[in-house]
Amino acid sequence: MEEYNVYSVIGEEGFERLVAAFYRQIPGDDVLAPMYAGRDLAAAEQRLRDFLVVRFGGPPRYLDQRGHPRLRMRHMPFAIDQKARDRWLSLMSAAFEEAKLPPGAESTLRAFFESTASFLINKAE
Ligand code: HEM
Repeated sequence: MEEYNVYSVIGEEGFERLVAAFYRQIPGDDVLAPMYAGRDLAAAEQRLRDFLVVRFGGPPRYLDQRGHPRLRMRHMPFAIDQKARDRWLSLMSAAFEEAKLPPGAESTLRAFFESTASFLINKAE
C-alpha cells in the first residue's frame, strides 16, 4: 500500500487504536517507562498519533502544532540504543496485534517504524 493511502484506509480511528494500544504499555515497560518520567503521557500519545496521521496522508495537525518533525533532533534528549529500539518495536508489534488493522496498512506502517526506529538510535550499547 502506498504510504499516502494508509490514512484513507484506516482513518483517525485506526491511528488512534494503534497508538493507544502502544502507549498503554509504556508505564509498565522497564526500558521505556523511565524515559517518560515526568511527561504527560496523554500529550505524548497525541503527538505520535498526529505525526503518523500527517505522515500517512491525513490532516496536518502535527505540523500546525509542532512544526517540522525533526525526529532525530527531538529524540536526542533520550538515550536510544539498540535495546531501546528493539523494545519500542516490540511494544508496537503488540499494539498491531491488538489494533487489527488491514494487512496492507499494517505492513506499510511496520516497514516505516522499523527504519525510523533504527534511524533514531543515538547511543552505542
Ligand atoms: C526507537 C525507539 C524510540 C524511543 C525510545 C522513543 C522515545 C520517545 C520519547 C521518550 C518521546 C517524548 C514523548 C513526548 O512527546 O513527550 C518521544 C517523542 C516522539 N516520538 Fe519517539 N521514540 C522512539 C521511536 C520513535 C519512532 C520510530 C517514531 C516514529 C514513527 C517516533 C515518533 C515520535 C514523535 C512524533 C514524538 C513527538 C515529537 C515532538 O513533537 O516533540 N518515535 N519518543
